Amino acid sequence: MCGIIGYVGPRQVMPILLEGLKAQEYRGYDSAGIAVLEDDAIRLIRSKGKIAVLEKKIGSAYGSATIGIGHTRWATHGSPTDTNSHPHLDCKNEIAVVHNGIIENYLELRNWLLKKGHVFASQTDTEVLPHLLEEFYDGDLLAAMMQTVSKLHGSYATVALCKHDPQKLVAARRDNPLIIGLGDGEYYFASDMAALIEYTREMLILQNGDIAEMTPDGVRVFNDGAEVERQIQHISWSKKAAQKGGYKHFMLKEIHEQPWALGQTLKGRIAADEKAVELKELEFSPEYLRSIDKVVMVACGTAYHAGLVGKAIMEKLLRLPVDVEIASEFQHKEPIIDQRTLAVVISQSGETIDSLYAMRECRERGAKIIAICNVLDSTIAREADYVLYTWAGPEIAVASTKAYITQLMLLYMLTFYLAEQLGKMSGEQLQPLISQLYRLPEKVEQTITQLEAPIKRIARGMKTWEDAFFIGRGLDYAVSLEGALKLKEISYIHAEAYAAGELKHGTIALIVPDVPVMAICTQREPMPRMISNIVELQARGAFVVGVTWADQKDVIKVSDKALLLPEVDELLAPILTVVPLQLLAYYAAVAKKCNVDQPRNLAKSVTVL
Ligand code: G6P
Repeated sequence: MCGIIGYVGPRQVMPILLEGLKAQEYRGYDSAGIAVLEDDAIRLIRSKGKIAVLEKKIGSAYGSATIGIGHTRWATHGSPTDTNSHPHLDCKNEIAVVHNGIIENYLELRNWLLKKGHVFASQTDTEVLPHLLEEFYDGDLLAAMMQTVSKLHGSYATVALCKHDPQKLVAARRDNPLIIGLGDGEYYFASDMAALIEYTREMLILQNGDIAEMTPDGVRVFNDGAEVERQIQHISWSKKAAQKGGYKHFMLKEIHEQPWALGQTLKGRIAADEKAVELKELEFSPEYLRSIDKVVMVACGTAYHAGLVGKAIMEKLLRLPVDVEIASEFQHKEPIIDQRTLAVVISQSGETIDSLYAMRECRERGAKIIAICNVLDSTIAREADYVLYTWAGPEIAVASTKAYITQLMLLYMLTFYLAEQLGKMSGEQLQPLISQLYRLPEKVEQTITQLEAPIKRIARGMKTWEDAFFIGRGLDYAVSLEGALKLKEISYIHAEAYAAGELKHGTIALIVPDVPVMAICTQREPMPRMISNIVELQARGAFVVGVTWADQKDVIKVSDKALLLPEVDELLAPILTVVPLQLLAYYAAVAKKCNVDQPRNLAKSVTVL
């Protein structure tokens, strides 16, 4: 949610800012802007719309500036207009600021500043920042930033540029990500490593409460008034990993990357005899393991859907109660959590603020926390007691695909690990499951190869779809929810997922001739009931696409179209079933000429409440 870029060094800054913004456009794309220091003045260019609009406005007038900041926005306070775009300025046009997050006490601060004579130009919460800096600036931007952040409530990653300090950027962060890229005599700020990988692999991740000062001579980081050392991270993934690599969209690339990503998640975590999952990251004592009486998972969006699959498999194999909570709702209840609760926070970005706050609530109530994250050293990863990384590489498309599938993989691995550790299953019992799990990357590859062409054909007819339904029972229902979310978020087709047995309690009223229904049928015990549901839908004229196994002749017979999955144990089916649903959503969005990677109103990482 909002992408920040900043640069200090010897080079012309404008192209660096624009490239940095483009690499982070997935974080927010309703407006963008830059501020550079040129001829002793701040040059500000901002525009509503995508970065391409800003780029056009800048034209070839790159100028000679070698220091600047940029921002791509996902609006929170104030609609997306030129004036509400970042950077924002102080009264004298001497300080420019970009910000990601929400200043919760901005009204109070704004009133205080208004009384002191400051004049505001926008409706944003951010604009209090340049005015506060102006108020506190006394020749030292760092000191002014320290005073400014002491007044703030809320979350922020912010970078400031001041006309009187022509070689310096100052930044601060709390609960929103901010990365520093270390070059040779040149330094960068960004919200995401992906924006910097082209320039450097040495990165430093700012922590909560950090305030950083950057000049061509280096970077200094302060926390609580004292200078601190932050460890340099060496980033190993390639620039190619953050680019489209020949695919038309990031989403398609990321769907095709799933076999590789699953391999990354599995790497080094399966015992040679395939009788155990080895999660060296977890160091649970036998006493602690015996004390766990409940698991709570918290997450948002797609990660929440992964949690629903996790709940089903954990409850089945561990016989422990598992609650899965939408992180934003969790904060409004008094959760029943104590030292006996194991909390699992699932978040691709590791920065989703609702998940972060829910995690802190779990911690306050005494739970131990495992984070399942993709982004290295993200806030959630850092604050958790244990972190299991998915190692899926950068996920750029807003619609999550490889992050979901690798989250599922880790939830299976965690379940098998706990099953063995808790003495619920022996190595012998686990071996057939682990062995199949280990081979799932190949099966996912096979699923993509076999189903992409038929799905493309189905999707061609989807241009006219207005509504779609996804049904399933048990694990299939959990995946249906993700299938419906994928379709609606990128193709804007209204889609709903239903537990198939619930259809007749209301939803069936919406079934009219030709309404498409994806019927997920991988679970064998409820199969006869699924077949009855399909027949009931057919009787009302629905167009049913069955997703099932090749041996399910009855499902194939009653469906209008059948998408067949390669055989695996039905417990592991979600990792395969989601693939045709992702492809369906993708090709539907392409058929409708939607912006696949940047759907309207959405953002990749939601760092505001
Ligand atoms: C946003 C994204 C979703 C994602 C959710 C949670 O809404 O658009 O794709 O599932 O945030 O993100 P996280 O990074 O916590 O997994």
